[in-house]
Amino acid sequence: MSNEVVHIVGARPNFVKAAPVVAALRERGVRQAVVHTGQHYDDRMSAVFFRELGLPRPDVDLGVGSGSHAEQTAALLVGLEAEFISRSPAFVIVYGDVNSTLAAALVAAKLHIPVAHVEAGLRSFDMTMPEEVNRRVTDQLSDLAFATSPEAVGHLVNEGVAVDRVHLVGNPMIDTLLGNLDRFDTAALRESLGLPDVYAAATLHRPANVDDPAIVARLVARLHEVADGVDVVMPVHPRGQAAFEAAGLADHPRVRLLPPLGYLDFVTLVRGSTAVITDSGGVQEETTILGVPCLTLRPNTERPITITHGTNRLVTDTELPGLMAKILAGDRPNGAVDSIPPLWDGRAGERIAAVMVGELDRRG
Ligand code: UD1
Ligand code: UDP
Repeated sequence: MSNEVVHIVGARPNFVKAAPVVAALRERGVRQAVVHTGQHYDDRMSAVFFRELGLPRPDVDLGVGSGSHAEQTAALLVGLEAEFISRSPAFVIVYGDVNSTLAAALVAAKLHIPVAHVEAGLRSFDMTMPEEVNRRVTDQLSDLAFATSPEAVGHLVNEGVAVDRVHLVGNPMIDTLLGNLDRFDTAALRESLGLPDVYAAATLHRPANVDDPAIVARLVARLHEVADGVDVVMPVHPRGQAAFEAAGLADHPRVRLLPPLGYLDFVTLVRGSTAVITDSGGVQEETTILGVPCLTLRPNTERPITITHGTNRLVTDTELPGLMAKILAGDRPNGAVDSIPPLWDGRAGERIAAVMVGELDRRG
């Protein structure tokens, strides 16, 4: 076994979460490598985050690419197994709930390599979401569970995860946000993109919203209703691009479609917006810290703390235009007093690194 810690990243949200953990372990002199699975591969879905967030270039890119769940997961398992056998890492760190996360945890567990899961314990209790399957399995296979919120700790303990494996550390995605606050220049972005003073930012990519043409057509009709009252700017995730185009989303003078944005431009777009329409997990958290009203087009969330402590509200497509009109009239869509979830203070990476170093020492 080497003394190397290996980070597994593959999809857009992973990069944002890994950056502060890699930086904090570097500060402590831990030997580490970054393995990119290649689940996301377009420059705008992947490389831009490495350039912007000071992440080291991946030591290896497995290039697994897209496919059905079985095809993608199978390619991940095969690629990661060879990589772990040749590296023999002391610990594998996985992030969030994407297929790369699940595959890495499974391969490591079978090779008896300890696994740390960053963002453990989130639960939507909706097993139709691939992410819920990935989270539950990953948590069962992990030796260390790093939780972002107190209710996540409760879920893990309820599922039988030993309490000494669970650490409430805060949210590394928020470390990245707070660490880059002075780079989100809303005036400059407004000027470079020619944005109006008041606009709604939108981003949608969950299979339940973008895979079925009938649902996409419904959403497009609602988004057009919203656009009757406010400009809508939407960087389009590749998963839904063809479906939104086919359903005529761009056929409204106040809808502006953009390619996926890099992290700095995207968070700047959100920061400068009057409200956000989303189904993204990370965006629910980022809007909570930025104080931007967030309308989440989902029946549930694995991040309820963004509702109780933040600016998030779950909405149906039918409710969307009316709630947006209220926000434009000055209402807040979420009755909670804006506050910050505990430990979302920019220091989660440091806390994770402190636990990791203790664990590496303990295991020799
Ligand atoms: C994945 C995650 C999801 C996460 C999202 C973040 C799983 C099961 N899903 O969903 O949890 O919220 O990433 O963005 O892991 N594509 C490209 N270029 C790319 C990547 C993807 O064009 O660089 C297209 C391909 O047509 C691909 C589709 O997007 O089939 C879906 O990609 P995939 O990684 O399978 O899932 P996401 O929907 O991106
Ligand atoms: N994001 C981005 N560009 C975009 C859309 C999102 O940089 O065009 C960032 C967003 O700020 C957050 C992360 O990507 O940090 C969230 O990823 P995504 O919504 O793809 O996945 P989820 O969080 O739903 O798993």
